[in-house]
Amino acid sequence: SLKGVDLLAEIQRLKEERNAVILAHYYQKPEIQDLADFVGDSLDLSRKAAATDADVIAFCGVRFMAETAKILSPEKTVILPDMDAGCSLEDSCPPDQFKAFREAHPDHIALTYINCSAAVKALSDIIVTSSSAETILDQIPKNQKIIFGPDRHLGGYLARKFDRDMLLWPGICIVHQAFSETELLKLKAEYPGAPVAAHPECPPHIIDHADHVGSTSSILKFCSETDSDIVLVATEPHIIHQMEKARPDKTFIGVPGGDGNCNCNMCPYMALNTLEKLYVSLRDLQPQIELAPDLMDAARVPLERMLEMAG
Ligand code: 13P
Ligand code: SF4
Repeated sequence: SLKGVDLLAEIQRLKEERNAVILAHYYQKPEIQDLADFVGDSLDLSRKAAATDADVIAFCGVRFMAETAKILSPEKTVILPDMDAGCSLEDSCPPDQFKAFREAHPDHIALTYINCSAAVKALSDIIVTSSSAETILDQIPKNQKIIFGPDRHLGGYLARKFDRDMLLWPGICIVHQAFSETELLKLKAEYPGAPVAAHPECPPHIIDHADHVGSTSSILKFCSETDSDIVLVATEPHIIHQMEKARPDKTFIGVPGGDGNCNCNMCPYMALNTLEKLYVSLRDLQPQIELAPDLMDAARVPLERMLEMAG
């Protein structure tokens, strides 16, 4: 039993003993964000994982993020507090079907969202995150045909914004898909003039109401810099913890999902990580990310292209 264990103190002690770094995504529980060495978006976390001199990376996020850390730093031990922390976008894109899709379109390059398995990365030409997609797309010649997967909303948003034809894989994020336009319109009526910040994983009926569209880090920046006293936030609401720290003088309201009475705007995969599981994973160095070396070598190529092109 973990009863009586001072989790925060034990995590700190084990972190030093193991020479570990704790990386956390903005969608993690506040107590995890607060003890992490670094909190960031998918691109920032990839960069940190690639650059760290720690021996162990304790990744508080989801599996594709921890796998990315392992692929970029294969000599490190990478632990994920709960190996079941997956992602609906990854689930939507089985590698064999993605391979068939690529083969059916041999004149297209595959520009692929980082929210996918290592096997899908290995089948891709360039990986993007929501914070790097626009910069990277800008460097690809206009006449180059593109397959974009697995998030059809991010792909559709980029296609519309840059007027580019892209073949879209039909995946969605269950969290951003659940935002309700009706609930958003109710909030807009209640707080007239409050800007809406949305993640590009949201469907167009949410994006169309947004004053700012971008990655978690860009939404956080927008919310930290806005003059408005109230901001409506259409992304996973655990990021509001960082907004409140940056601007305690302002009010950030998470847009509800579904009919407004569910918790479906929260990511069930991100929620699997807890302080208890983080403690156990640091203590036992399990569960650990293990990937075949040749798979990692193949997946590293498009990931390193991303890091180069993102600048
Ligand atoms: P970013 O933090 O890169 O914007 O990604 C959001 C997300 O849904 C991660 O799963
Ligand atoms: Fe995947 Fe969506 Fe959860 Fe991010 S928020 S991990 S995209 S299901």
